[in-house]
Amino acid sequence: MAAKIINGTEIAAKKRIEIAEEVKKVKNSGVTPGLAVILVGDNHASRTYVRNKQKACQELGMHSVLIELPQEISETELLFKIEELNGDQNIHGILVQLPIPKHIDEKRVIESISPLKDVDGFHPINIGRMMTGQDAFLPCTPYGIMVLLEEMGISIAGKHVVVVGRSNIVGKPAGQLFLNEHATVTYCHSKTKDLKKHTAQADILVSAVGIANFITADHIKEGAVVIDVGMNRNDAGKLCGDVVFEEVSAKAGYITPVPKGVGPMTITMLMYNTLKSAKNTLQS
Ligand code: GUN
Repeated sequence: MAAKIINGTEIAAKKRIEIAEEVKKVKNSGVTPGLAVILVGDNHASRTYVRNKQKACQELGMHSVLIELPQEISETELLFKIEELNGDQNIHGILVQLPIPKHIDEKRVIESISPLKDVDGFHPINIGRMMTGQDAFLPCTPYGIMVLLEEMGISIAGKHVVVVGRSNIVGKPAGQLFLNEHATVTYCHSKTKDLKKHTAQADILVSAVGIANFITADHIKEGAVVIDVGMNRNDAGKLCGDVVFEEVSAKAGYITPVPKGVGPMTITMLMYNTLKSAKNTLQS
């Protein structure tokens, strides 16, 4: 049977309506949620992502600031800018678009963002809080995956989740969020031996590898939920995921397409986190 398509565009739109409603309420209390995005250099893909983040802010009635810095900026100058934003009452979320130039220490930059404004959920304090099941800003892409499954009514407790990929942004935190929801989690990566042996046991398979056509029908179990986080270009230059959609969707129970799957959820959860940060200032 053909898999049910998990429509990320539709679910993101529904969530954005809810967020916009909440933004109105927070504004009525005198606070406009504000996001600052820092873009260093002129990476074409980063520029597109940043533009989409700003557009989403505008659509939801949030304040947004884009800070464009030259490729050659020193680490000290970047850290100074972040420090300024940490103290800016109109800014509730700070995001430094990655990757940043090699001469700047990414870890130091991430750790310089106030954990209270770390709407990416990349700061070690937020990661530690997530790992210990405390309230935290959750990384947007893994968080978006959890919301997709919740919206589809797909249960997680007791399921075997196999995550392929172990990046700090997607793979590692995705596994942790599933563990927090009582799944049994297996991580696979480039050094994993006999990948198919693991993936074929997955009730829920998350692929965050970044290689087109990486997951084929013989990687998956009949009826599995397949979450494709890949954002690749095929030989024709068309956007595609890690999963060979046609053959895998004929065997899976549910599948996220690329585009219109996980992608739209990432920015939606960024908006959610920025709203949450603004609300936190009302409570304190
Ligand atoms: N580059 C690619 N994805 C992301 C993301 O989620 N956050 C940031 N800050 N940079 C990215």
